[in-house]
Amino acid sequence: EEETTLSITVVGASGDLARKKIFPALFALFYEGYLPENFTVFGYARTKMNDEELQNMISQTLTCRIDKRENCDDKMKEFLQRCFYHSGQYNSENDFAELDLKLREKEGGRVPNRLFYLSIPPNIFVDVVRCASRRASSEKGWTRVIVEKPFGRDSESSRELTRSLKQYLAEDQIFRIDHYLGKELVENLSVLRFSNLVFEPLWSRNYIQNVQFIFSEDIGTEGRGGYFDHYGIIRDIMQNHLLQILALFAMETPVSLDAEDIRNEKVKVLRSVRPFQLEDIVVGQYKGHSKGGKSYPGYTDDPTVPKNSLTPTFAAAALFIDNARWDGVPFLMKTGKALYTKRAEIRVQFRHVPGNLFRGNIGYDLDRTTNELVIRVQPDEAIFLKINNKVPGLGMRLDRSDLNLLYKARYPIEIPDAYERLLLDAIEGERRLFIRSDELDAAWALFTPLLKELEENKIAPELYPYGSRGPVGAHYLAAKHGVRWGDLI
Ligand code: BG6
Repeated sequence: EEETTLSITVVGASGDLARKKIFPALFALFYEGYLPENFTVFGYARTKMNDEELQNMISQTLTCRIDKRENCDDKMKEFLQRCFYHSGQYNSENDFAELDLKLREKEGGRVPNRLFYLSIPPNIFVDVVRCASRRASSEKGWTRVIVEKPFGRDSESSRELTRSLKQYLAEDQIFRIDHYLGKELVENLSVLRFSNLVFEPLWSRNYIQNVQFIFSEDIGTEGRGGYFDHYGIIRDIMQNHLLQILALFAMETPVSLDAEDIRNEKVKVLRSVRPFQLEDIVVGQYKGHSKGGKSYPGYTDDPTVPKNSLTPTFAAAALFIDNARWDGVPFLMKTGKALYTKRAEIRVQFRHVPGNLFRGNIGYDLDRTTNELVIRVQPDEAIFLKINNKVPGLGMRLDRSDLNLLYKARYPIEIPDAYERLLLDAIEGERRLFIRSDELDAAWALFTPLLKELEENKIAPELYPYGSRGPVGAHYLAAKHGVRWGDLI
């Protein structure tokens, strides 16, 4: 068997994502022994730097995830010795040709496997792919390209981007990342559902009253106002992260765990989502607020954001899936910046027990006594099942208790970062957690008309104070569908 080499080129190496996530994830994979013997990491960006400067830059953000094992420093040194830098323009074939020479030198005639991570703004994706792919395709080995959202702003621009990328790459070379799919508890969703008899048969309109996908952040768009204002929260979080989780949650049982089988089911369920109406969504924007002597800036206080911006920093939506399994079940999504807490969770609220014998003993609002399954994606990963239980004692009084699976207590290891999982999968050619182009199309098809309507009608977002629970409109939206937000009960 011929010897292979792996090179990972991080394009946009001096950027935030590269420094904070990609290099540390690569190091973690190396540390854990997941990278092959012959690997090199290249940083590529416009900034002038030499290898040593790149190594210094990277070394600032590397950590030993598991524990401070004695060999951590040695491992870091070993890793850094495999990191090189090439400075060049993103649209220069010559500069990429020089990079290619350096890659070949490292490959030394062995079978070249090449992974490019495009950690750059989408308007230069195509340039880079054009220049890099010119040299990259050899008869042996593979070339794969990881791209990060935004994949366009709407159906049309997204399709255009896909078309342009496909001039240079085959679909199976393009790895579209949605880093939420790399999160441990999102990956666990299918295990929880398909391998537990206490859940699998309940996963339908017969037993589930509503499902909620909630993702809140406790900081604003600080420093990213320029990017954010062009996209807004619906494109930044809802159209991708939340919708992807919804698809995994609601899809039919795939034929197998194979990437194509899973993605086939995801596309199907995405295409079954009923088209949105304006009345199915509530948008908000945070405003400045002072609390405890401290003042927090509003979204439009950011100098990179236009003063009259209508870009939503909060959105809540109600979706319906028009198929036999989910007919009539509200799927609620809620996400926002500058809210009171940072949390991502999935909440499954079950129906009432018909003819519940203990109705009279429950003592409080029946609505709050239905079972609820809470999957806390972050922080502090956990799964809870809310059940009714007898309060111990001679009387017959019920209360609401939790069956708790706290990851910290049950699995005393540090959970790998989503980027570790996804990078490893890309290296191994596992496509299960990457977005196929038809999935992307379906996601945009769902949101594009709504986004156009919001923007054309200049719908003003409901203002909410920085650090609050978001616009009250979100409650009305849920109430309209007979639902209460689980995170606010
Ligand atoms: C990104 C969004 O995709 O996800 C950001 O662009 C957001 O706006 C981030 O802050 C959140 O990711 P995480 O992993 O920190 O929850």
